[in-house]
Amino acid sequence: MAEIKTLAVVGSGQMGSGIAQLGAMYGLDVWLVDTDSDALLRATNSISSSIQRFVSKSHLSQAAGSDALRRIKCTANLEDLHSADVIIEAIVESENVKKKLFSELDKIAKASAILASNTSSISITRLASATSRPRQVIGMHFMNPPPIMKLVEIVRGADTSEETFSATKALAERFGKIVICSQDYSGFIVNRILMPMINEAFFTLYTGVATKEDIDTGMKLGTNHPMGPLELADFIGLDVCLSIMRVLHVGLGDNKYAPCPLLVQYVDAGRLGRKRGIGVYDYRKVSEPVKP
Ligand code: NAI
Repeated sequence: MAEIKTLAVVGSGQMGSGIAQLGAMYGLDVWLVDTDSDALLRATNSISSSIQRFVSKSHLSQAAGSDALRRIKCTANLEDLHSADVIIEAIVESENVKKKLFSELDKIAKASAILASNTSSISITRLASATSRPRQVIGMHFMNPPPIMKLVEIVRGADTSEETFSATKALAERFGKIVICSQDYSGFIVNRILMPMINEAFFTLYTGVATKEDIDTGMKLGTNHPMGPLELADFIGLDVCLSIMRVLHVGLGDNKYAPCPLLVQYVDAGRLGRKRGIGVYDYRKVSEPVKP
């Protein structure tokens, strides 16, 4: 495959903005796309502060930081992506919405372009079926936050070619990441194991076994995790966690993956976690946590 020079990222939320930042920091020209202009504005601000933190910790020179910022162009127009070598999708975790986007991207992207998805759990084979180029569709699952976390989980769909796999792996390694490979089953490796644990933490809270603080402290100090599962769920986004549990439940066909009613209720109430200022914990009034 020809050299990758231009990256496009569709979806400028917490993941898309971080992936765009990585691309620009590693010398690529980057298009960042979102249908929501406020999201693009938030992304530009968060990329700029994150790059500034890299500069202040001497992980990046001021000149390299400024260059990276200049290389990112924001747009709401998918047509701008016609010259991209790789397009990474990081929009909402919904199979139908992602499939519609993949079908649109297939028509716009150049024939050689790779279409990658940052999905946490959805079948790459089914996303690829919405395109005329399933050999060039692949899962490229970054961890949150992408500029910091070392791992990229690569998922091959049923028809993903060896060439697409090698180019995607090389791109992740260019970003300084360690790659793991998963077959295309719901949740892949990381979320197949992580999400049932988070869901079980919700059941532990829901059934009154313990307070949220004790659940998180128990898992932090008892199992040496850097964050407790409820705190981590707030960081990931409760809507994202719920979508992944639903994919596991349907895709693996076992009731042990049924989402906890408390997780469903929080999402229904708009308590989506840190990004909304409230989830399991209330980040607007740190000293007065919300009662479960
Ligand atoms: P988010 O909610 O922060 O951002 C999603 C963005 O996509 C929003 O700005 C929204 O306006 C935009 N969007 C929605 N539909 C669009 C469309 N058709 N075209 C263009 N933009 C569109 O979500 P987040 O957390 O960044 O997740 C994005 C993807 O990354 C999901 O598939 C999620 O499962 C996956 N992921 C999330 C992780 C996390 O910790 N939050 C970790 C790894 C993967």
